[in-house]
Amino acid sequence: MDKTLLLIKPDGVEKRVVGKIISMVEENKFYIKDIKMKKWSREEAEGFYYIHKGKPFFERLINFMTSGPVIGLLLEKENAVNDLRKLVGKTNPKEAEPGTIRALFGTNVTVNTVHASDSEESAAFEINYFFNEQES
Ligand code: CMP
Repeated sequence: MDKTLLLIKPDGVEKRVVGKIISMVEENKFYIKDIKMKKWSREEAEGFYYIHKGKPFFERLINFMTSGPVIGLLLEKENAVNDLRKLVGKTNPKEAEPGTIRALFGTNVTVNTVHASDSEESAAFEINYFFNEQES
């Protein structure tokens, strides 16, 4: 079965929409294999988003992703990566299709409530990065 990672960002926790997001995920037939909340250090957030290093929005992204806790969900479903991206909607909540998680709860391109893996390769990296780190 295909796997993907959904990350609920600090604004999702702050806005108290974690339960609604998890309901949407389950209603769309994703199976929750694992779930974890954590507060990232700058180094941890930069490692997760290494692919965006050097981009103009990188500092803003890291500042936001370390401003509060994030929740990772390891999700399983056939065609998981594409189906979750559809449910999440476009990066900019103002452009996201009605009914998608970002259209419903996102504020702007940085404060956009969730992240979803964009390919099977990035899903494999992100799942391992979020769930298989050494716990201290
Ligand atoms: P996410 O799916 O977490 O992946 C990278 C994040 O960078 C993206 O969602 C946005 O929240 C953030 N970001 C901020 N500005 C931009 C931008 N101009 N283009 C793309 N992503 C951006």
